Amino acid sequence: MNVFDFLNVFELNIIITLQNNIFSGLFVGQNLLTLKEVDSTNNFLKNLLTNSKPVPEGTVIMAESQFAGRGQQENKWHSEPGKNLTFSVLLNPAFLGVLNQFDLTRAISLGVYDALEPILGAQLKIKWPNDIYYADKKLGGMLIENLIQGGQIKNSIVGIGINVNQQDFPAGTGNPTSIRQILHEDYDLRTLLSEICTHIEAYYLNLKAGKIVFLRNAYLNRLYWLNEPQKFKAQNEVFAGTIINVKETGLLVIKNNNNEEREFSLKEIEFLNK
Ligand code: BTN
Repeated sequence: MNVFDFLNVFELNIIITLQNNIFSGLFVGQNLLTLKEVDSTNNFLKNLLTNSKPVPEGTVIMAESQFAGRGQQENKWHSEPGKNLTFSVLLNPAFLGVLNQFDLTRAISLGVYDALEPILGAQLKIKWPNDIYYADKKLGGMLIENLIQGGQIKNSIVGIGINVNQQDFPAGTGNPTSIRQILHEDYDLRTLLSEICTHIEAYYLNLKAGKIVFLRNAYLNRLYWLNEPQKFKAQNEVFAGTIINVKETGLLVIKNNNNEEREFSLKEIEFLNK
């Protein structure tokens, strides 16, 4: 049986390469579909799931170009065609309850971080909840979309964008950086994808094995601004405070200068860079 049997004729027409078994892990990246152009790899994977044929866990959809890439909080994700990694991974963490969704975010963030750290070094951080930062600039981010059934996560579409070989970024796209801007040389996209898949799989298997304390500590150890006095904005109020923790559910805990601990969700808090 062909591993790509789950694709229909329409999908096969827009795929430029089908590859399997090129990565070292057990399942993440074993089925890799590279698309020349797509609206969003998350959308493509979501559509595939509505097909009658099951899609194997760990399938990766990668695009050379996305014309409607999506970011968190309804933002757009801009990426110069052919220069960066834009891909989505299918996971089926049915062992994870809805209340523990943030542990999946932790596992994926850690996987991406650990793939990049040997290349970029200690200035790499995870910015809560799941941005990848180098110094004070954004190198990448993720959009994890969970399909819930009966209180459990049936499917998780893990969309990841990493700026790799893009040199220039349009104004108004945040505060981005890329591996190329940091190292002043190009990095092979497929090698990096393979590293990320390997590390995501390792952390995902830890999550599946219930090693939650390990994951939570590892995530905190890599967190941007942890235990550093910084400035934030919430409800139009600028305040000084220090990130001291991330709750099990994923809320960010900041202690303000009056020693009060406040908890925030993503929509409620803004980091104010110097
Ligand atoms: C963010 O930081 O706002 C999240 C960015 C996520 C971008 C990736 S690129 C691949 C996948 N497809 C999308 O449309 N979005 C994610």
